[in-house]
Amino acid sequence: MQKIISLSKRRGFIFQSSEIYGGVEALWDFGPLGTLLKNNIKLEWIKRFIQEEESVVLIDGTVLMHPKVWSASGHVTNFNDFLVECKKCHSRFRADFIADGYFVGKGKAEKKNQCPQCGGKDFTSPRQFNLMFKTFLGPIEDKAHTTYLRPETAQSMFTNFKLVQESMRLKLPFGIAQVGRAFRNEITTGNFIFRTREFEIAEIEYFVAPEEDEKYFNIWLEKWEKFFLDLGIKKEKLRRYEHPKENLAHYSKRTVDIEYKFPFGWSELAGVANRTDYDLKRHSQFSGQDLSYFDEEKKKKYFPYVIEPTMGLERVILAVLCDAYQEISGGRTKTTRPTKELEVLLKLDKKIAPIKVAILPLVKNKTELVKKAKEVYEILKPYFTCQYDELGSIGRRYRRLDEIGVPFAITIDFETLKKDDVTVRDRDTMQQERIKIENLVNFLKEKLEN
Ligand code: GAP
Repeated sequence: MQKIISLSKRRGFIFQSSEIYGGVEALWDFGPLGTLLKNNIKLEWIKRFIQEEESVVLIDGTVLMHPKVWSASGHVTNFNDFLVECKKCHSRFRADFIADGYFVGKGKAEKKNQCPQCGGKDFTSPRQFNLMFKTFLGPIEDKAHTTYLRPETAQSMFTNFKLVQESMRLKLPFGIAQVGRAFRNEITTGNFIFRTREFEIAEIEYFVAPEEDEKYFNIWLEKWEKFFLDLGIKKEKLRRYEHPKENLAHYSKRTVDIEYKFPFGWSELAGVANRTDYDLKRHSQFSGQDLSYFDEEKKKKYFPYVIEPTMGLERVILAVLCDAYQEISGGRTKTTRPTKELEVLLKLDKKIAPIKVAILPLVKNKTELVKKAKEVYEILKPYFTCQYDELGSIGRRYRRLDEIGVPFAITIDFETLKKDDVTVRDRDTMQQERIKIENLVNFLKEKLEN
């Protein structure tokens, strides 16, 4: 994990928020490459689940909502963690994670666990702590104006259920999707971007006839899992975890987590829940608006059930980084003199790699080569995220590119000036091919799409 954190900082993927002030726990900023990576994952998600799913539409709701939303949703009463305090150093922990992932069960602190801060063994009894961040709507800071930063994106998909269904003339089954920020005042943090206080969720509320809930639960579980495999995550690093009935969230009939084997162990990457008709019924009750659905075929009115596949983007990013990270001691190129250095290869799937193509003049002190390389850069940049790099030996530049997962590197050499072709190096195979400049865009498009 330290290696991933250090690479992320060194190469502009992820930085600690407000680092110049000493940083803030569990808040992370995405740097230039991290932002591109995150956007690419979002775009893949939108393509897969909105563009290619004709029954799913995308919305973009607000982070702040009417205060009643959070009473109706059950978050004001139920969105709590049990918190225990070490009696010696007063550090606070989630009761079910007293020591580094060691599960002791909700509401019960076992004495044999030691405080990770001071080794103390005596904890207070567990008490409830609401994870939502409170704020005020408008200038008056009283109870009537109190609301919360959303802890999930789901609720605006329920409050907008009727508006979306009617404006888009949708019939069951259909889904409303959203990707956006969520906030949780987590007690136990750490493990880099795994559990943060501000993060992005991508989720779908898929509305179905009540009797079809189990069928669609299984369909969505498969689709969700496939998305991770198609992002290049290794199959053996994924598994399912079925939540026992007694630990289900207040709204859930069934929840299955998709877990990833992170460096600190198997942990939740994403999930699929059957939220039943809980949310639509509760919002109908609290708002006084009828959110039931009239089924024209069955000629009856009912509250649809909701299947909710959800994923946290930061966790997906952490999983793809861990999965793609490789170290090669002695260097990748066995034909040249082996380096003493450890070379890093970030084998990111081409679809999500932040930079797709690098353009490198063989040397920087030959004006004609630099001029030609810049021409090639101008040709390619409308089509791909490109990086122009002329600093250092060509081998060193390849290594820098491998470290950030650039799939293709193009070298402009003296042959280029004669034949108008370039070498294209493939990150994964290190094979080099000569390609005519006029064919370069199509060649790269084809390679990047397959
Ligand atoms: N609407 C359902 C919902 O919010 P959740 O399991 O509480 O379900 C959804 O959260 C996803 O968000 C999780 O599967 C996880 O990937 C991610 N997630 C949850 N809490 C997080 C946190 N504190 N930091 C980063 N990601 C988090």
